[in-house]
Amino acid sequence: MADQSQPQDDYLSRVFAATSTSESTNLYDQWASTYDADMVSHDFKAPRIVAETLAEYVNTASKSSAVIVDAGCGSGAVGLQLKNVGFTGPIDGLDLSQGMLDVARKTDAYRDLKITDLTKRVDASDGEYDGLTCCGTFTHSHLGPEPLEEFVRVVKKGGVLVATVLEMHWVEKGFEREVERLRESGSVEVLEKEVHAYRKQSGGGRVLVLRRL
Ligand SMILES: C[S@@+](CC[C@H](N)C(=O)[O-])C[C@H]1O[C@@H](n2cnc3c(N)ncnc32)[C@H](O)[C@@H]1O
Repeated sequence: MADQSQPQDDYLSRVFAATSTSESTNLYDQWASTYDADMVSHDFKAPRIVAETLAEYVNTASKSSAVIVDAGCGSGAVGLQLKNVGFTGPIDGLDLSQGMLDVARKTDAYRDLKITDLTKRVDASDGEYDGLTCCGTFTHSHLGPEPLEEFVRVVKKGGVLVATVLEMHWVEKGFEREVERLRESGSVEVLEKEVHAYRKQSGGGRVLVLRRL
């Protein structure tokens, strides 16, 4: 049951302060029904930017057949934006919060929605997807850079990954180093890593675009 002592629009700072995955997941379960409206007030533009960025790197002809996985899909904002920019093929969503997945299901944007802990091996074969999105999940008290290698594994050669990474974590939490390691190992080409202002008071974030080699 939701903690009525906290204003609902304070959920963002509460998930950022969570000290365990179970605390964060419980908060997202409580927040799910009002998450989308709250994020409008935070001027969260990242889902649209992520979808438009993926569309830039996937040619028009394959947009209708591309199979995409949305890691940390939450309530489905990225899935809806992907449909808006012309990805009419299957999109699978992965998230730890059942409450958020229940909201995502109502968007009708996803083929499959699965409870998944992204710090563990993803239940998908090597190269299963043409594209992967991960929006707003490389952030405070969520994911460090460790899942990037697993994300690369599930994308096919030539496929594209688009992820947002909070700018203040880019160097400090080792994202820059991990991306460089993946590049040097020959598993990815770095297509973009520009800083965007995609959420109010966030200090900006990188929109990281990798092509699987
Ligand atoms: C800020 S929300 C972003 C949701 C959505 N991508 C969007 O752009 O609106 C972060 C999401 O990451 C999920 N998450 C956090 N840690 C996770 C983990 N270890 N495995 C899977 N999902 C996780 C949360 O449940 C939440 O739905």
